Amino acid sequence: MRFIGEVPAHDLTYSDVFLVPSRSDVVSRLDVSLAPDDGTPATIPLVSANMNSVTGPRLAASLARRGGLGVLPQDMPLQELDAAIRWVKNQPVLWDTPTVFGPNATVADVVEEIPAVEGHGVVLMDGDEYVGSIPTKRLATALPDARLGDLLRGSQASLDAEDIQTGRRAFDLMADASLSFSAVLRHGKLVGSVSQRGALRSTLYAPAVDNDGRLAVAAAIGINGDVQAKAKALIGAGVDVLVVDTAHGHQEAMVSALRRVSELNLGIPIVAGNVVTAVGVADLVDAGASIIKVGVGPGAMCTTRMMTAVGRPQFSAVLEAAAEAAEQGAHVWADGGIRYPRDVALALSAGASSVMVGSWFAGTIEGPGRLRTDPSGKLYKESWGMASTKAVQERFGRLDSYEFARKMLFAEGISSSKIYLDPERPSIEDLLDMITSGVRSSFTYAGARSVAEFHERAIVGVQSAAGYEEGKALPVSW
Ligand code: XMP
Repeated sequence: MRFIGEVPAHDLTYSDVFLVPSRSDVVSRLDVSLAPDDGTPATIPLVSANMNSVTGPRLAASLARRGGLGVLPQDMPLQELDAAIRWVKNQPVLWDTPTVFGPNATVADVVEEIPAVEGHGVVLMDGDEYVGSIPTKRLATALPDARLGDLLRGSQASLDAEDIQTGRRAFDLMADASLSFSAVLRHGKLVGSVSQRGALRSTLYAPAVDNDGRLAVAAAIGINGDVQAKAKALIGAGVDVLVVDTAHGHQEAMVSALRRVSELNLGIPIVAGNVVTAVGVADLVDAGASIIKVGVGPGAMCTTRMMTAVGRPQFSAVLEAAAEAAEQGAHVWADGGIRYPRDVALALSAGASSVMVGSWFAGTIEGPGRLRTDPSGKLYKESWGMASTKAVQERFGRLDSYEFARKMLFAEGISSSKIYLDPERPSIEDLLDMITSGVRSSFTYAGARSVAEFHERAIVGVQSAAGYEEGKALPVSW
C-alpha cells in the first residue's frame, strides 16, 4: 500500500482514509480471490470475534460454510467449547444446519429464533420422522399461537441429498419446483436444509474446511491457568486455529503463555493479541504466534480509550503491525471497529490478512441468544463487551464476594446494548454477501486479483470529515 501525497504525520482511523482507484485489468469481481493466505483454512478474509454475544456454534458453522472462521470465546467452559467444536465439525458443508421444531411448536416459538423473512425456513420432525418444511416468510401472516403442524398444507416436499450433489443442481431443482426452502433427506433421514439463496451461495463461496472436509472452526484461550492443558483439549476436539487472547497482548504473561502453547508444536496456526505496535508484533511472533491480532479500543463495545486513553487509531495500528508481521513472515488480523464493507477493504489495504468482526455480526439470526422484540416491535439481540461488568459477572461469578467486587471495579466495556436485526440483512450470510461484494469491487478498482496483490497495489488517501460525509448515500439504511 502507498499513500497518495505525503505520508500523514498523525495516526488515522478507517474514516480518515479512502482508496484511490488505479489502472486495472481486473474485469470482473469474480476474477478476485479473497482467500487470506495466512495458514488458516479460510477462503474469505473474515473472522467473527471471540465474544459470547457474537460467536456461538451456529454462527461459526454458517460462517465457515461461506469461507470465514468463527472464533469461539475463551469464556465458554472447556466442556462446552469441546462440544461446540465437535458440533461444528458434524454440520453439513454443502447444506445448511436445519432448524428443527416439533409439529406442536407455535409460530411464536419460531420467531424467537428465525424472523418471518425470505430465505429461511424450519423443518418439522416428529421424533425421527420427517413431517414437512415451512419457509418462515409464510409465518408473517400467521397468528403467534398457531401450531406449525396446522400450517403445513402441501409442504411435505423434500430434496434427496443424492439428487443435489452441487449447489447449482439444487438451485435448478428448487427453481423448477418453485420451492424457496426444503429439508434435505438421505435414505429418509434428515441431513440438512437448503434455501434457493443458500444453494446459489454455495456456488459462489468455497467453504473453510479441515483436511477431512469438515467445517473449520477456531477457538480462544486466555493467558491464565494451565494454557497447555486447554490448548491440548481444544486440539483433541478438532480445533483448526487457536487464538491466545487478552486485552493487553504486549505483556509478560502473554509472552510466557504463548511460549508454553507453542512448545507443544500443535501444527495449527496460533493467533495472539491484542497489540497495536511493531514491537508488540515482534515480541509475539518471537514467542510463537504466526498471526497477530491488532486493535486496542476501536471495538463497538470498548470503553478502554475513554477510560484509559490507551489505544491507537485502527488504520495506523494495522498498517504498522502488518509491515512488521510481513518482515517476520507472519500475518495480522485487524480486530474491531468494522461498521461498513469499506472498513474491511481498508484493513486489508493496510496489510491485514483477515478482519475480525464483533458487534456487527451479533444481531444476526445466527448469533447467540434469542431474538427479542422492543416496545416498537423491532427485533434485536443483546450484546455486551467482553470486559464489561456483565462479562466479568459471568466469568468470575464463582469468586468470593471481595475478589469479585474488586474485579467489577475494573470492568472496561459496555454491559448491554441492543443490536437490532437489519430487516434487509437479517442473516450473517446477507452481511457476508454485502461485505464480500464490496471488497471484491475494491480489489477490481485497485487492479488486484488476490489479497497479496491488494496489499501491494492499494493506494490510500487521507480525507476530511466532510470528505467522509460526502461518501454516504441517502437514505442511509445499513
Ligand atoms: P467490534 O467493533 O467488531 O469489535 O464489536 C470487536 C472487538 O472488540 C474488542 N472487545 C472489547 N474491548 N472492552 C474492550 O475494550 C470490551 O468489553 C470488549 N469486548 C470486545 C475485542 O477485541 C473484539 O474482538
